[in-house]
Amino acid sequence: MKGILLAGGTGRRLYPLTAVLSKQLLPVFDKPMVYYPLSVLMLAGIREILIISDTESLPLFRRLLGDGARWGLRLEYAVQARPGGLPEALLVGRDFIGQQPVCLILGDNLFFGQGLPDLLRRAAALQDGALIFGYRVGDPSRYGVVTLDAKQRPLSLEEKPQDSVSDFAVPGLYFYDQRAAELAAGLQPSGRGELEITDLNRLYLEERRLQVELLGRGIAWLDAGTPDSLMQAASFVQTVQERQGLMISCPEEIAYRMGFISAGELRQLAEAMGANDYRTYLLRLLSHPD
Ligand code: TTP
Repeated sequence: MKGILLAGGTGRRLYPLTAVLSKQLLPVFDKPMVYYPLSVLMLAGIREILIISDTESLPLFRRLLGDGARWGLRLEYAVQARPGGLPEALLVGRDFIGQQPVCLILGDNLFFGQGLPDLLRRAAALQDGALIFGYRVGDPSRYGVVTLDAKQRPLSLEEKPQDSVSDFAVPGLYFYDQRAAELAAGLQPSGRGELEITDLNRLYLEERRLQVELLGRGIAWLDAGTPDSLMQAASFVQTVQERQGLMISCPEEIAYRMGFISAGELRQLAEAMGANDYRTYLLRLLSHPD
């Protein structure tokens, strides 16, 4: 399975933080935001990843992440000239995807919690249809929302409903079979002038090929698109990391634990850094493996 990390957009709600810097490069406590969704793809075992952003920001992502080889990844880059909606990622990435299934993740979504790596690995085995997630939220009207029947099968999908009968928002993490780009190519822009991921998911639903997996309360899903949610995400990461002494979404650690890089390679990465807490953490992984 291939991965696409969508890191464009306007970042309007975070202006002026985003006046000259892409939202997904802003810090979430001690790491650039893009590290968090990238870590999710890595935990899913996905190593071939396309990073999509706007013309101005893409060189910065390239500088930050390079070709991915140091983390055992193969990263490619592509431009989304204007934010035309989430399914555009599949069109921009069409050649990259080829005839493979694909996982699309949004660059401002953070996931953390018990059982997540297993769940991601299972999702990445998808061959037919689509798999999305449902997450109970207090304010479903801000999100794409899924309604489920008594057996937790999806009944309907709505984009930012005013009066939703369901509290289950759909997080920005989607697994699709190899037809996703072809289906996305047939979508029409919505009233707000964008292609809607909800419309793509609805195509799979109509074919009865959409699975929805509920993420329980043991899993944290945060997005960092507003000043408040950015601050909350940073506080969350700080609180959990300080308490546990373990990092959330440290790509070097994940690469090592997933076997993408060796202990020697992890040591080299750490030693190439200036002396700081991040480096100390990586070196401690080598001396205290668990
Ligand atoms: P949004 O948070 O919906 O949009 P945004 O990032 O442009 O922010 P704002 O609403 O404040 O202007 O987008 C979700 C994620 O998807 C985010 O990481 C940006 C990214 N995105 C793109 O890369 N291209 C797009 O066309 C869209 C709509 C979003």
